[in-house]
Amino acid sequence: MRLALLLCALRCTGTLVTGTGGSRLPDGPPGEPDRDPGLGLGVDVSAPLRRVDPRFLSVTIDASLASQESFVWLLSSRRMRTLAAALSPAFLRFGGTRQDFMVFEPHRRQQWEEPQDAAGESCDQTFLPPWMEERLKCDWAKQKLVLMKEDLLGTYRSFFFTELTVDQLHAFANCSGFQLIFGLNALLRTADNSWNNSNAALLLQYCQSRHYGMSWELGNEPNSFEKKAGIRVDGHQLGLDFIRLRKMMSESKLYQDAGLYGPDVGQPRNHHVDLLDGFLQTGAEAIDACTWHHYYVNGRDTSVKDFLDPEVLDSLALKTNEVMKKVKLASPGKSVWLGETSSAYGGGAAGLSDTFVAGFMWLDKLGLGAALGLDIVMRQVLIGSGSYHLVDDNLDPLPVRQSQDYWLSVLYKRLVGPEVLKIQVLSEFGRSKRVRMYLHCTNRKSYRRGAVTLMSMNLGKTPARISVPAVFSNSTVEAFVLESEQPGEEGLYSRSVKLNGEVLMMVDDKTLPELKGKLLLPARHLQLPAYSLAFFVLPDAQAPACS
Ligand SMILES: *[C@@H]1O[C@H](CO)[C@@H](O)[C@H](O)[C@H]1NC(C)=O
Ligand SMILES: *[C@@H]1O[C@H](CO)[C@@H](O)[C@H](O)[C@H]1NC(C)=O
Ligand SMILES: *[C@@H]1O[C@H](CO)[C@@H](O)[C@H](O)[C@H]1NC(C)=O
Repeated sequence: MRLALLLCALRCTGTLVTGTGGSRLPDGPPGEPDRDPGLGLGVDVSAPLRRVDPRFLSVTIDASLASQESFVWLLSSRRMRTLAAALSPAFLRFGGTRQDFMVFEPHRRQQWEEPQDAAGESCDQTFLPPWMEERLKCDWAKQKLVLMKEDLLGTYRSFFFTELTVDQLHAFANCSGFQLIFGLNALLRTADNSWNNSNAALLLQYCQSRHYGMSWELGNEPNSFEKKAGIRVDGHQLGLDFIRLRKMMSESKLYQDAGLYGPDVGQPRNHHVDLLDGFLQTGAEAIDACTWHHYYVNGRDTSVKDFLDPEVLDSLALKTNEVMKKVKLASPGKSVWLGETSSAYGGGAAGLSDTFVAGFMWLDKLGLGAALGLDIVMRQVLIGSGSYHLVDDNLDPLPVRQSQDYWLSVLYKRLVGPEVLKIQVLSEFGRSKRVRMYLHCTNRKSYRRGAVTLMSMNLGKTPARISVPAVFSNSTVEAFVLESEQPGEEGLYSRSVKLNGEVLMMVDDKTLPELKGKLLLPARHLQLPAYSLAFFVLPDAQAPACS
């Protein structure tokens, strides 16, 4: 408790510094000299490879935020609302380990038959007063330590939530342009080990009475139910539980066509996808998309080297292909989503997951995930537990800085469209390891038809030169180059990020910075600084795939 208070005091004065704990970097991936003559790009802009959902980049809120219900008020913070709105359209998944320990206990015990007047829920009226926000954030810093201890020990207790949690989540989602997905508790079991749906029925009934348009999930990482709660549920049974939930939904006017996603299994380990086969046999027809979770590394056992390692980044492809193969076999055509994903599991790697270097894993996941066939990627977490949040709960006075990954996400939303195009990066030594690139049509809301966006990153400590493909040679370029506030290796641990040389921060609680690109005339080469990430928009590319 003393530690908690001290930490809180430190946080409140803004002097808490997290150690980096990282090891020294090697000289970057081998095989390429420091001064390379320029990387060539092979592109095909005749037709898209595939098209992802417009909500491809989506976000999560971990159920631990509701572990003490008062914290859900943080979702009414004016600043939170502004930050969230910049990420729409998106799904907002509420779930995680603690969803399977949450029991709905309505305070207003009634039948909710009357249609309610929702007029009082205007999005502009219901902000959290600043003094209460400060209080909650300070308390949250303490609560995080309690949660961390529970996670370390792996002991979870059941807790209750009321209408407040659902009301806050729905208002937050609706006012931000998100579609809410609520994760139901699958660990409420009957004597014969099938799902006891009576608490879920109560919740659905309440949400329906409030006309809350939302989607559903059931259970989080059921492969580890035994470890977390001493209850074993096999895939076959879980599939039957989903059929039961789908039946409940079909009996509701509001939810008969609503989305149901699952089974939110952990990633394949040792070529073994626990549970998924059995689940798909019985439950595939109940779900609209098959969800699984992915983290590159263990947060307690990683270093900055992993965050820049092309092999670690490529491991996403192995795991995705494994899951997609199974789903294709059991349920051809079923959409596959990353239902929860981030850099490092175990709450993230402090000093890495929350610093500049985390951006490489995030942008690469967005680029590679889309190319591999995933339709939605839900980032753990928008706000709350762990060190992998997009929006910090820090209490530093203004100007408040958001994470690198937050700004990357906003730029991605604005600049990247759903059509995935084919691209290959070539150096004279074969496929480039140090520079990674992805190509999409540009978001049509922001740019004209035919425009393309190159997402690129330089994992190395020297700048890279990229040859612009001939098909794009007449187009001007809008460059959005993200670098750490500090140069060199130290900068990888920075919590501030520069866009075209200017540190990004909110103007005030209602206003994001302008996020302007730098206009470049048509040129033969593009420059990618050391340790940088960039979006290059080519507005006059006239790509047939994007017309
Ligand atoms: C928000 O709620 C309104 C009214 O119920 C609805 O028309 C709208 O589609 C909702 N928006 C989202 C993003 O769910
Ligand atoms: C399901 O849970 C409810 C609430 O705890 C309980 O009253 C009911 O008996 C349970 N049903 C079965 C079949 O176990
Ligand atoms: C670029 O412009 C030149 C001169 O107008 C033209 O000859 C050439 O075909 C154009 N290239 C492309 C790829 O459109």
